[in-house]
This record gives sequence, C-alpha cells and structure tokens, in this order.
Amino acid sequence: MIIEKEYSINEDEFKDKVVLVTGANRGFGLAVTMDLARAGATVIMLGRDLGSLEYAYDAVVDAGLTEPMLYPLDLEGATPENYQELQDNLLNQFGKLDGLVHNASILGTQMPIEQYDIKLWYSTLQINLSAPFMLTQFLIPALLKSDDARVIFMSSTVGREARAYWGAYSVSKFGIEGFAKTLSEELEKTKISVNTVNPGKMRTEMRRAAYPAEDSSTVPLPEEKSQAIAFLLSSSSPKINGEQLTISD
Ligand SMILES: NC(=O)c1ccc[n+]([C@@H]2O[C@H](COP(=O)([O-])OP(=O)(O)OC[C@H]3O[C@@H](n4cnc5c(N)ncnc54)[C@H](OP(=O)(O)O)[C@@H]3O)[C@@H](O)[C@H]2O)c1
Repeated sequence: MIIEKEYSINEDEFKDKVVLVTGANRGFGLAVTMDLARAGATVIMLGRDLGSLEYAYDAVVDAGLTEPMLYPLDLEGATPENYQELQDNLLNQFGKLDGLVHNASILGTQMPIEQYDIKLWYSTLQINLSAPFMLTQFLIPALLKSDDARVIFMSSTVGREARAYWGAYSVSKFGIEGFAKTLSEELEKTKISVNTVNPGKMRTEMRRAAYPAEDSSTVPLPEEKSQAIAFLLSSSSPKINGEQLTISD
C-alpha cells in the first residue's frame, strides 16, 4: 500500500502522547522525532551514543519543539536486563507508550554471500532484527496501556524483493517483515497495530554508503518523507494492521 509523503500535522495532535524512536540522533530517525515533537509528542530518543543524542536534543529544543527524553542504548549489545530497565523507567515515568518506531539499522556490507564477513552478518542481524524483537517484547506491556498504540518497523525494498549482494541487510529486512506480520496477527484483538514501512530512497548516511556514486541532490531529504510516519502514528489516521506500506517518492 502506498502512502503519501506529505501530511500536515496539526499542532497538539500528539499532545500527551509518548513515542519511542530508535536511531533518533540523525537521519530519518531525527526527522521523525522533529515532526512528532512539533506536534506535541514526548519523544523518547533512543540511540547508541549519548554525545550524538545530546546534539540532536539541542536541535529539537532550539527549534522550540516539545522537549524529548534521551535514552542511550547500544542495540548491538543490549541485554534483556537493559530492556527490562527501559520498560520499568517508561512505565514509572509515563505509564504508557503510544508509538514505537523501529528505525535504527546498519547496512552491513554489500558482498556476495560466499565472501560475506561472518562477524558483520551477526551484528547486522542483531541490530536490525533481534534487537527490535527484544525491544518490542519488553515494551508490549506499556503499549497495552495506550488507548491507541501504533508500532512501525522501518523496512526496505530489499526486504520485499531479493537483490544480489545485499546480504545480511536484506535478510534482516525480510526477517522484520515476517516478524511484523506475526506480531500483527498475535495482537489483532488488542489496541496495538503493527505495520512495516519502506521509506524509499532518502539522502542519509546509509544511502551514501550504499550508493557512493549517486548524485545525492537527486535524492529526497529524510524531512520530505518523515511526515508519513507521523500520519501513521496519529489517532486521526485510519488504523491499519499487518500491512506492508511504502512512502511515495
Ligand atoms: N536512507 C535510505 O535510502 C533508506 C532506504 C530504505 C530503507 N531505509 C531504512 O530507514 C531507516 C533509517 O535509515 P537512515 O537512512 O536514516 O539510516 P542512517 O542514516 O544510517 O541512520 C541509522 C540510525 O541507526 C542508528 N544505529 C545504528 N546502529 C545502532 C545501534 N547499535 N544501536 C542504536 N542505534 C543504532 C544510528 O546511530 P549512530 O549515529 O550511532 O550510528 C542512526 O541513528 C533504516 O531502518 C533503514 O534501513 C533507509
């Protein structure tokens, strides 16, 4: 299903809503954070590096948007105990979670399977697939406390169609599609909806690493596509569940 990239978000549309965004310090995650904070959401910005998160926090606050909360956590090394602590902190401070955007990912390397670096394979699967599983598992209790909770997994074209040399990244995104579909069926009778979103191409560090020879001026900025995520998380948009969504170019 194609969703439009442009959406005008009403001020206060996310007032009293709490949304956690992973990889919120830069790229698409920061663009999503800015849109949500502009509409009044308290965004829990999760990222692996505190310095980088603080830099992004300043950008949100300097723009006069709703103050976010920073949550440093390296998704590669995070343990069940770390996720339990996050659940406890979140429930103590907010009592609920209205939105969860699984955005953080790494590209791994572009290499034939025959030569794929085994350590990088594990890291990519850990950050892009196993960490979203654990984070979701520990945050379901907080999502169940919301009247309308929405979970989005960022996917990719190569998570829906195989392409040679995309290795662990492609496999992790195929995995996230399967995981999201399974979860959406399990939670069908709850107030939690689950969908995947392929954002299409965006001018970020990941895109530059994947297509170093590309003229980046032809690639849309993440800010041009991030409003679609606010639309999907908003209670004023129709609730959909178990869909593979794509943001229009
Ligand atoms: N850009 C595109 O054209 C495109 C196309 C299709 C799909 N996507 C998907 O869209 C999403 C956003 O992509 P992007 O282009 O914004 O990527 P990006 O610029 O590479 O940003 C990735 C984000 O993930 C974070 N991250 C990586 N490893 C982490 C870890 N171990 N723990 C916590 N955070 C970690 C990064 O933090 P650090 O700053 O600390 O590294 C950064 O905030 C991804 O899921 C990607 O697969 C992107």
